[in-house]
Parts: sequence; C-alpha cells; structure tokens
Amino acid sequence: MRPGTTATAPGLEIRPMRDGDAERVLAIYEAGLETGQATFETVVPSWAEFIAAKLPRLSHVATDLGTGEVVGWVAASRVSARPVYAGVVEHSVYVHPGHMSRGVGRALLVAFIAASEDAGVWTIQSAIFPENTASLSLHRSLGFRVVGTRERLGRHHGVWRDVVMLERRSAG
Ligand SMILES: CC(C)(COP(=O)(O)OP(=O)(O)OC[C@H]1O[C@@H](n2cnc3c(N)ncnc32)[C@H](O)[C@@H]1OP(=O)(O)O)[C@@H](O)C(=O)NCCC(=O)NCCS
Repeated sequence: MRPGTTATAPGLEIRPMRDGDAERVLAIYEAGLETGQATFETVVPSWAEFIAAKLPRLSHVATDLGTGEVVGWVAASRVSARPVYAGVVEHSVYVHPGHMSRGVGRALLVAFIAASEDAGVWTIQSAIFPENTASLSLHRSLGFRVVGTRERLGRHHGVWRDVVMLERRSAG
C-alpha cells in the first residue's frame, strides 16, 4: 500500500483525490445527478468549479484494486468562513452506478470520518433527500443523526423537495 492510502474493504483502496481523477470524478457525479435523488444540482460543474471550495485533505477516491479505476469519491467544504465554524464541514459521497452495494460508499465514508477527525473537524453535516434511502441508511449506520427535515426547501426540476439534515458530532 502506498503512503496516505488505506485498504478498508476487499478489493478497494482509498487514496487522496487528485487532478488526474477529474474526468472520472465528474462522470460519477453526473451519474449521481441523473438518479434525481442525490442533489438539487442539475448541471455538472467544471473541475475548477468543483474543487474550488473543497478541502483537499478531506477529498478521497476509492479505486478498484484490480483495474485501478476510480469507483467512488467523497469530498467536503466548510459550511462557513466564520472562525467559530472552522470545524464544521458538509460532505458529498458518490459511487459509480456499476459499483454500488459492494461497500464502496461505506469505505469512503469511514475513511472520510477518520480524515476529518485527524484534521480537527468536530461536526460533519449532510443534506439528503428523504427518498435517498440508501444514503440515509449508510449515514445513520456510521453515527449520523437526523437533525430534522426541512420542508419544501427548494425546487428540483420544478418540484418542491424536502431535505433531511444529518450530522455527526465527533467525541472530541
Ligand atoms: C448512497 C451511496 C453513496 C451508497 O454507496 P454504496 O457503495 O452503494 O453503499 P455500500 O455498498 O457501502 O452500502 C452501505 C450501506 O448503505 C445502505 N445501502 C446501500 N445500498 C442500498 C440500497 N439500495 N437500499 C437501501 N440501503 C442501501 C445500507 O445501509 C448499506 O449497509 P449494509 O451493506 O450494511 O446493508 C450510493 O448509492 C450513491 O452513490 N448514490 C448516488 C449518489 C448519492 O445519492 N449520493 C449521496 C448524496 S447525499
């Protein structure tokens, strides 16, 4: 295993995200957008837009050890520039549709939580559509609690959508 990488699930390696991953990361993001259950966003950004606010230390990809291909990613941004919120981040996790339900999302989130705690993050938050049962279940199983549901928060393809707010508070 290379330094800075972790093997957390059979056949997978988790390593820091890099510019060379751009095309694949954005393609996986686009597949997530197409599910209609991942995010309010409807357009894939450029790589520069995508990484602009992301915290590099917390951005990771999962690669298939057999093919070397990126099969999922996790990344986060600060929720506010105010010093009091310096340890509060909001993350996204996306897995390639051809690699779902084999532990990729869980491995990414476990690695992300560990990296966040190493970086001094105390609260990780996430906003998830209620219909995204896979994501809700994954997050709950790793210590995220539901803070509440924001009703009819925004329009997605013309339809008002609720959003479930989750957070994971570190012990520290
Ligand atoms: C949500 C997502 C990241 C889960 O990734 P994954 O690699 O498929 O999930 P894993 O195989 O690691 O499964 C982890 C847990 O998620 C839940 N889960 C996964 N697939 C599920 C499904 N189809 N239905 C219900 N729960 C599911 C289970 O709790 C599972 O735990 P278990 O294996 O102990 O049962 C993935 O479905 C995805 O990328 N979806 C599209 C993008 C998206 O919605 N991202 C989240 C935005 S908030």
